[in-house]
Amino acid sequence: MRCRKCGEKAAINMRHHRLALCKEHYLDWFIAQTERFIQKYKMFTHQERILVAVSGGKDSLALWDVLHRLEYQADGLYLGLGIDEGVNYSDESRQMCEIFAAERSLTLHTIDIQENYGNSIPGIVEKLHRVQKKPCSVCGLAKRHELNRIAHEQGYDALVTGHNLDDEVAVLFANTLNWSAEHLVRQEPVLPGTSGFTRKAKPFCRFYERETAAYALLRNIEYIYEECPYSSGSTTLAYKEMWNQLENQKPGTKLNYYLSFIHAKEKGLFAWTQAEKLQGLNVCPGCGQPTTSAGLCTFCRTVQQAAAV
Ligand code: AMP
Ligand code: FES
Ligand code: ZN
Ligand code: ZN
Repeated sequence: MRCRKCGEKAAINMRHHRLALCKEHYLDWFIAQTERFIQKYKMFTHQERILVAVSGGKDSLALWDVLHRLEYQADGLYLGLGIDEGVNYSDESRQMCEIFAAERSLTLHTIDIQENYGNSIPGIVEKLHRVQKKPCSVCGLAKRHELNRIAHEQGYDALVTGHNLDDEVAVLFANTLNWSAEHLVRQEPVLPGTSGFTRKAKPFCRFYERETAAYALLRNIEYIYEECPYSSGSTTLAYKEMWNQLENQKPGTKLNYYLSFIHAKEKGLFAWTQAEKLQGLNVCPGCGQPTTSAGLCTFCRTVQQAAAV
């Protein structure tokens, strides 16, 4: 296989785009595509301050690298969740982020859940349920809350995450299995900010996981190869495997599924109703973030309940 641009040996072949590229042209293509997605979906501008949520994995570190090369004002934020499971998962992923930032003289904020709230994520779950239970849903809740809190407190214009096409397809699939309108409405490449919520963007939402991995590898970015130890056996992983089979049979299936959804939304499908738009949010008396609850938001309630055990 030869590079379409220069005829050298190809480093990657993207069957869904009928495009093979050598290392140098792939790295250029990947950066140019990211810039194209940022512009197309009006995610953010060079004048704005961006906060990149970095997990130490390939996607988010590749994203920070690309934004830095495109000369966006992008700082990083790492959340210490306190996940160990015998593999030191959180410590190692924090180190990856710290090394990445130090090598490029970039600003990295780190927030530790245990230091701030008295318990790690698995600790909260253990206290609340007193049985071995996966912490993934509490973890997701804490990530959403803390990423938004820091972005808002520090006055960033946009919060960006490394979600790739495979992530988006798995979530979209889960949401279409039960036609969860509320979630389908909110699944967007960019979610505008509202009072109390910072704008959220996913510049890699159109890249296959294989493509972000190729970028990180070809760029020699050091990242944590292991997935979160709690992710094995998850429904999301099962959906991803299923979609890989469909993709193998017909290249482009994932991209088509996701882009058709985005196009349908652009035409007005799965939009907020007028009543939903007008529905007011309350302010959490604990943290000040907007919430649909009448009292404390779900995050504050969870943290408080665990502290009381
Ligand atoms: P995940 O929810 O693990 O699939 O990760 C999706 C995205 O969330 C990543 O690409 C990161 O941008 C962000 N993220 C995940 N874990 C963390 C973390 N511990 N700290 C900061 N950002 C994170
Ligand atoms: Fe949160 Fe695995 S439980 S990353
Ligand atoms: Zn080439
Ligand atoms: Zn709260």
